[in-house]
Amino acid sequence: MAVDVIIKEVAPRDGLQAQPKHLTLEQRQQLIEELAVTGLTELEIGSFVSPKAVPQMAGTDVLASQLPAQPLDYSALVPNLKGYQLARAAGINTVAIAVAATEQMNQANIRMSLEQTFAMADELLASARADGSAVHAYLAVAFECPFEGKVDPAVVLSQARHLMAQEPARLVIADTIGAANPRDVKTLMSALVAEFGPERLGCHFHDTRAMGLANVYAALEAGIVQFDSAAGGLGGCPFAPGAKGNVATEDVVLLCESMGLNTGVSMPALLSAVASLSDMIGAPQGGRAHYWLSNNSNRCAS
Ligand code: COA
Ligand code: ZN
Repeated sequence: MAVDVIIKEVAPRDGLQAQPKHLTLEQRQQLIEELAVTGLTELEIGSFVSPKAVPQMAGTDVLASQLPAQPLDYSALVPNLKGYQLARAAGINTVAIAVAATEQMNQANIRMSLEQTFAMADELLASARADGSAVHAYLAVAFECPFEGKVDPAVVLSQARHLMAQEPARLVIADTIGAANPRDVKTLMSALVAEFGPERLGCHFHDTRAMGLANVYAALEAGIVQFDSAAGGLGGCPFAPGAKGNVATEDVVLLCESMGLNTGVSMPALLSAVASLSDMIGAPQGGRAHYWLSNNSNRCAS
């Protein structure tokens, strides 16, 4: 059955990159294997970044070489052209690039100015078009920046236009530090949907201020049907002070399925992956509906 909402699972990347506990490659592989059989549509397996900057993501090339043979779209995050080339060499054909909406966030994240970051993104998108790779272009800190404060939606719209002109497979509006509210989300995403249609748009929310799921709902109302989320609500950016976990995949699945929107995800399989993740991290993980779901997952539609 075709899904109504596409969920891109990001726990193996966004979820693990900021964890003080660094998982072994075997543990990361096990997590990928468990998530790959949940029925999720897309899975971000890690990132091709400097191991000095993000040691948690070292060895993503090894994981890329042993991906489970499942019908889902595997992807990885790359911060620059070098990462793009490494990802391609490892057989990854869908990459995410993070372009922050503000000067200081780009400096903190990838040590480039805003201008250099957009020039790099243009070059990477042109290479990907020539290579036949798909790019998910992320506009990070699209609502608020931890260094520069609130981001003007007019700036975000003009940056979105710039990126969309380079034909990414998807433009993802990312609330990296979890500072958005549902009204702003609905306004911004409605404007983007009116201009570009929903097919190439996605949203990425963090639950720092308990508004993650409300923001997903606001984006759904605006017509968005592609969302990032992390099993167990794991996540955070090591370079964005105050960033907390992603909106939990199990909460997004529950929200969608309870409104009759099919995600294709098996809740028992997903909860089993979350339980393994808790063992690996050494602390209980889980979204807001964790306690209810633990006892009622068999009542979920799929
Ligand atoms: N993957 C692996 N190594 C990389 C790399 C990549 N994508 N890009 C650069 N490097 C290496 C260089 O080869 C160089 O290695 P060396 O010291 O052995 O010569 C070293 O990293 C420094 O290169 P430089 O271009 O000077 O990079 P930098 O020190 O300015 O760091 C980044 C820039 C982008 C590589 C680094 O900040 C980074 O990896 N950031 C990741 C941010 C991230 O993942 N954020 C969370 C997600 S939004
Ligand atoms: Zn994130």
